Amino acid sequence: MLAKVFSASNYGLKAIDIEVEVNVAEKGFPGFGMVGMASKAVEEARERVRTAINNSGFEFPVAKITVNLAPADLPKEGSRYDLPIAMGILEASGQVELPSEKSYFYGELSLDGGLRHTKGVFLLAVLAKEKRVKNIFVPRLCANEASVIQGINVYPVDSLKSLVSHLKGNRKIDKLLTVKRQELMGQIRPEFDFSEIVGQEQAKRAMEIVATGGHNIFLMGPPGSGKTMLSRAMPGIMPDLSEKESLEVTKIFSITGNIPAGASLVRKRPFRSPHHTTSMVGLIGGSSNPKPGEVSLAHRGVLFLDEFPEFSRGSLEALRQPLEDGRVTISRASGTVTFPANFILVAAANPCPCGFMGDPKHECKCSIYQINRYQKKLSGPIMDRIDLHLNVPAVDVNKLMADKNSRQREKSADIKKRVVAGRKIQQKRFDGIDGVFCNADMKNRHIKKFAMLSPKANLLLKQAVNKYALSTRTYFRLIKVSRTIADLEASLDIKDRHVAEALQYRIRLDN
Ligand SMILES: Nc1ncnc2c1ncn2[C@@H]1O[C@H](COP(=O)(O)OP(=O)(O)O)[C@@H](O)[C@H]1O
Ligand SMILES: [Mg+2]
Ligand SMILES: [Zn+2]
Repeated sequence: MLAKVFSASNYGLKAIDIEVEVNVAEKGFPGFGMVGMASKAVEEARERVRTAINNSGFEFPVAKITVNLAPADLPKEGSRYDLPIAMGILEASGQVELPSEKSYFYGELSLDGGLRHTKGVFLLAVLAKEKRVKNIFVPRLCANEASVIQGINVYPVDSLKSLVSHLKGNRKIDKLLTVKRQELMGQIRPEFDFSEIVGQEQAKRAMEIVATGGHNIFLMGPPGSGKTMLSRAMPGIMPDLSEKESLEVTKIFSITGNIPAGASLVRKRPFRSPHHTTSMVGLIGGSSNPKPGEVSLAHRGVLFLDEFPEFSRGSLEALRQPLEDGRVTISRASGTVTFPANFILVAAANPCPCGFMGDPKHECKCSIYQINRYQKKLSGPIMDRIDLHLNVPAVDVNKLMADKNSRQREKSADIKKRVVAGRKIQQKRFDGIDGVFCNADMKNRHIKKFAMLSPKANLLLKQAVNKYALSTRTYFRLIKVSRTIADLEASLDIKDRHVAEALQYRIRLDN
């Protein structure tokens, strides 16, 4: 007998209909063959499905079983087809009857017949809505991902056994109640509050500018000066994710398996801090069926790269495209995939390999050669794409000890108010312009229109460019940062004092 079960695959961030055909033939040599899947995945799926069926109290047919996943030209590695394959076998061998309305079955089986947390349920739900597929059967652990999509029935499945029991009408599985997205949005507490950070007034100001305009920043300072703290506090001063942003981020988190069991929409601004040993594929994205990397997981949030010079040259080079375009393009024989990657880069580094160069209290133990080699990595094209460069000196220990009173210091929530106000101005400015949300997203043609400098400001910038031999790219980036500084004052004009502040964050380290 032949059974047809529907499921989904994905290419990039797009889910695609998959048809799982299962044929169980009494005639012929008993076996279990699969076509349309990568060979290693076949081996694993076969074992899981066979064992799960046996351990659930059903009969694994002694027959010639052929499974075909169509269309054949899509990459179909992965374990999400366990459930549709198992359901196909059970139907084709007469042990269950599938619903007459089109339904998606999706999920990885464990050997005992339970359903495991499976990547991509959110994308499956989006596809179901688009294709008007009424029912989706997905692992309970990730069913909530689908609960925010209105107009489909989401059935949270615990095990093969409970699903069969449901389909036979013995014991119904309650479908999930849909959750209104608006109810999920709202305040999220930041992990670190700016009021916990002593001193570092200039760094805090710089972070505020970065959060407002969506710029990138490089923090240089000795170990323990608070660079990590400042970075982790960043998401707390950024505006809440809008519903649209939240859906974008949720897709990326769902397909990479980053939504924890039971959770639904991602509502917190992403903060990602990959280690410098992270592979290039891990950082940028890739592999045969391309998956988003850390730069995309940081989309709409913060990408914190600590010990920046320790990242491989290849990784640093590869950051250029997302920093310029807000997305990454991955080319494969099977085609090209684009993932969004519009993040705020916060890069941090010690001034030298040992960390203490220029520190009045510690001795630097590095050789000139080591220092040169280290600083060389911090020059050139990648640094050119970072708008603000900042020294973060160590805060006096006595001051840290004495200053226990965080009440006088400004809270993240208050800084956030100014950031939100600055963002509102930008929203109005860029209304209707595709792909431009904040000042950092402006292309040169937008700069001419939206970021005119006053004559005095213009003169100041020109002088600085000549004096410090700044690149054209730096020139344009400085204008964008000046635009943001003016926005924080709600000033329509960009004045010389705005440019002067922007320059401060740029020439301090370079010269
Ligand atoms: N400015 C500061 N205010 C309050 N605590 C600080 C400050 N700087 C450092 N610390 C303390 O030192 C620890 C290390 O700071 P961290 O941010 O990890 O430094 P870095 O990343 O620059 O090496 C923090 O967890 C915090 O307890
Ligand atoms: Mg640190
Ligand atoms: Zn040193």
